[in-house]
Amino acid sequence: MGIERDSSKAIGEGTPFMPAFISIDYITHHYKGQSKPTLEAVEATIEAGQTVALIGRSGCGKSTLLHMLAGLLQPSEGCVRINGRQITRPSPKWNMMFQKPSLYPWMSVRENTALGLLFQGQKQLIAERVDPLLETVGLRELADTNVQRLSGGQQQRVALARSLATQPELLLLDEPFSALDAFTRTALQDQVTGIVKDKGLTMVMVTHDIEEAVAMADRVLIMSANPGRIENEMSVDLTYPRNRSAPEFVALREQLMKHFGETVELPQRNSKTEPRIKAA
Ligand SMILES: Nc1ncnc2c1ncn2[C@@H]1O[C@H](COP(=O)(O)OP(=O)(O)O)[C@@H](O)[C@H]1O
Ligand SMILES: [Mg+2]
Repeated sequence: MGIERDSSKAIGEGTPFMPAFISIDYITHHYKGQSKPTLEAVEATIEAGQTVALIGRSGCGKSTLLHMLAGLLQPSEGCVRINGRQITRPSPKWNMMFQKPSLYPWMSVRENTALGLLFQGQKQLIAERVDPLLETVGLRELADTNVQRLSGGQQQRVALARSLATQPELLLLDEPFSALDAFTRTALQDQVTGIVKDKGLTMVMVTHDIEEAVAMADRVLIMSANPGRIENEMSVDLTYPRNRSAPEFVALREQLMKHFGETVELPQRNSKTEPRIKAA
């Protein structure tokens, strides 16, 4: 499956492309009807072009935080800034992919891929962008096929191509591969990271899958629950695509697994001190 090599031209034309630099400024969030805050004093910065995994147990507030990065939810206190500007609403510049690809079932692969551009009133860009992206995600051959005839993994690829068509600065993924079989999931994890790195995008993904986090992220932010906080982090200083049976990969995965087995023993993360877990 071809990954577009010379992406500088594709991304540069029109407005200058700037991958998102994200600053999460002391976010606390209290949902109505909940006795405790869901998120408390969440603080982090994410460099432009970095891929970050938010990992934590179910219910710890990962999706809540991701929705804030997407501008879909406003925190009770604190804010998210992207390239210095406070995020108050969604934008096609930061694109969210969910577990369900949410495609239009009566349309073809090509038509679904073009939807983001169509909704943005950029119909004139469809011809130049859509087919090259379908090539990138390995679906060029299926461009005229109705999406209902595709497998789950192929449908996720359509959703990815649709997200990339509007040339976002930031890709946000909320457990997008968790409904797929293990083979498809592994292939897509490597492929999505390859495309994101190739295009220089910033990516933040939510997962509760330890291997997925180590396979895809430069940096893993570890969340605790009740209230949700970033309690620790781990850097993954391995080249892409990652060899999952390499000793360094296995060691990092085991460190993370051990962490989740021993959460109670860990101290609170202090951003002023070194993270406790760090890649060698
Ligand atoms: N719209 C909502 N209203 C009230 N509580 C919510 C809402 N959405 C999520 N929550 C609660 O916030 C907590 C965190 O949810 P969520 O961010 O979805 O966690 P995660 O993605 O880590 O599984 C959960 O206890 C959940 O029940
Ligand atoms: Mg969630």
